Amino acid sequence: MIPQWIIEKKRDGLALSPDEIRFFIDGFTLGTIPDYQMSALAMAIFLKGMSAAETAVLTDAMLHSGDILDTSSIDKPKVDKHSTGGIGDKVSLILAPLVACCDIAVPMISGRGLGITGGTLDKLDSIPGYRTNLSTEEFLDVVRKCGCSIIGQTKQIAPADKKLYALRDVTGTVASIPLITASIMSKKLAEGIDALVLDVKWGKGAFMSTYERAVELAQSMIDVGANMGKKVDAVITDMNQPLGRTAGNSLEILESIQTLRGEGPADLIEITLALGADMLVLCGKAASLDEGKAILRKFLDNGQALERFARMIELQGGHPDVTAHPEKWLPTARIQRDYLSPSKGYLAGVDAESIGKACLVLGAGRAKTDDLIDFAVGTSRLAKIGDQVEIRQPLVALHANDEARLAEAEKWVAGAFTFSENRVDRPCLIK
Ligand code: URA
Repeated sequence: MIPQWIIEKKRDGLALSPDEIRFFIDGFTLGTIPDYQMSALAMAIFLKGMSAAETAVLTDAMLHSGDILDTSSIDKPKVDKHSTGGIGDKVSLILAPLVACCDIAVPMISGRGLGITGGTLDKLDSIPGYRTNLSTEEFLDVVRKCGCSIIGQTKQIAPADKKLYALRDVTGTVASIPLITASIMSKKLAEGIDALVLDVKWGKGAFMSTYERAVELAQSMIDVGANMGKKVDAVITDMNQPLGRTAGNSLEILESIQTLRGEGPADLIEITLALGADMLVLCGKAASLDEGKAILRKFLDNGQALERFARMIELQGGHPDVTAHPEKWLPTARIQRDYLSPSKGYLAGVDAESIGKACLVLGAGRAKTDDLIDFAVGTSRLAKIGDQVEIRQPLVALHANDEARLAEAEKWVAGAFTFSENRVDRPCLIK
């Protein structure tokens, strides 16, 4: 088969055969198909789309580019959740230890930041000593010992996705339903889980800008899951404003610890409990979402979820004292400056994309695949839609290590807030 003929076929809007898709993914994984041809095919898929049948084959080809974990030695239901990505989304860090308290195993393989959205792995990398690169055996061992583990993709897990994910990030091919479906589902199905809950985000800070596109993406992933005999459910959530009050790696670890201590922001708790309850229902640990939320609330309130998080950190090489004294362990930025409100009234909008771009220029994310991340920088104490604000009241704190970057980030932040003279309702987070 000739790679450029396959690219041309998709460029012209035709469906690819299963053999053509497998040939391309296998060749890309082995290195016989170079990055530039894979990028061209990704762009053609981005522009022309794929049918449900093509998406299922693409996912299967990416899944079988590596191994599927054998989790049979873990005698508990194995469930995971995955988010399509957003700004300030630190739910996985809270949810994995919380759900693990309910006699469920959560073997979580996470990704790095993509575009302006943060990645769970980058956040965990800000914890000194924490290893996100465990071997398969070490990973399963941590899950057996504390019920959850969060690592990055090993070389054996969906290697085609690992290569393609990095390429899409820098070729403008992220926000494509078939590519996101295959990327997420190939990694998740390789975890050897029984069930999966998806947090599909829509809005200014998400890859899907409209609610309708998010529903389409959710359906695409549910269809692929069903095709492979897995229980998959999706929750559609609003990502027009950032989640919680922080964005940036170590700042989000800090907010996750505060949330596990029962001191988290309302929106972060609401979404964590909703997704967690769904996980409990899917594996028969709760009869209803309300019952699931009540069970989870108990483990947040009695400190057991925080203890699990500390245990996971310790088992993966970090110091368990991080959760008791995060200020001692987590990197902090040299400069901290408040952005002051230019108006008074009610906040009508807090644009997630602008806050994400502010974090990116501060150095919290990558502009190129090999960029190094500054774990300490980002935003905190973010005001939220519906808040009543006075003139010169701080709306967000910027954490920076460089004055020039800070000045650029301030411009993005200045464009993030819109005001209304009239009271504004808080948006509905979960439709
Ligand atoms: N998360 C992933 O793992 N892959 C995508 O393509 C987007 C979000």
